[in-house]
Amino acid sequence: MGFSFITETDPDARLTAISKHINVSNPNFLHLQKDVNDLDLSDYDLVISTSCEHIGNNSWFNSIRPGALVALQSTNLKWHDHVNTADSVQSFQKQFNLNFRYADEMFFNPIFSRYMIIGEKPDV
Ligand SMILES: C[S@@+](CC[C@H](N)C(=O)[O-])C[C@H]1O[C@@H](n2cnc3c(N)ncnc32)[C@H](O)[C@@H]1O
Repeated sequence: MGFSFITETDPDARLTAISKHINVSNPNFLHLQKDVNDLDLSDYDLVISTSCEHIGNNSWFNSIRPGALVALQSTNLKWHDHVNTADSVQSFQKQFNLNFRYADEMFFNPIFSRYMIIGEKPDV
């Protein structure tokens, strides 16, 4: 995709060795074993989270710089570790202040959907 450096974070220690193994051939890949809410994301041009339903506190979004591209996923599926679900793609959009380029709902079955939103962080 033309990005020079990729950083990934997950506080689950079980994923660290797997992540490093998968990315062993990429010297510009960095895996952090941290809560995303403890990171400063202001240096990143693109921020992706496919796990928004797992992260109870959205304050990580605040440190993303204006103009950065942001791609996020969530779901309406109620599950034991889904602490931050959305009821619709519209309610998911309201959780994050973005100039939206794309928003979509993927129906997996009658029980749940996944939502994806992509946009740029605005100046304010
Ligand atoms: C079940 S997984 C992936 C789910 C997602 N729907 C997907 O398929 O990409 C969710 C991950 O979010 C991670 N996670 C939970 N809270 C987090 C946080 N505060 N910061 C970073 N990662 C977190 C968990 O450790 C777990 O590995």
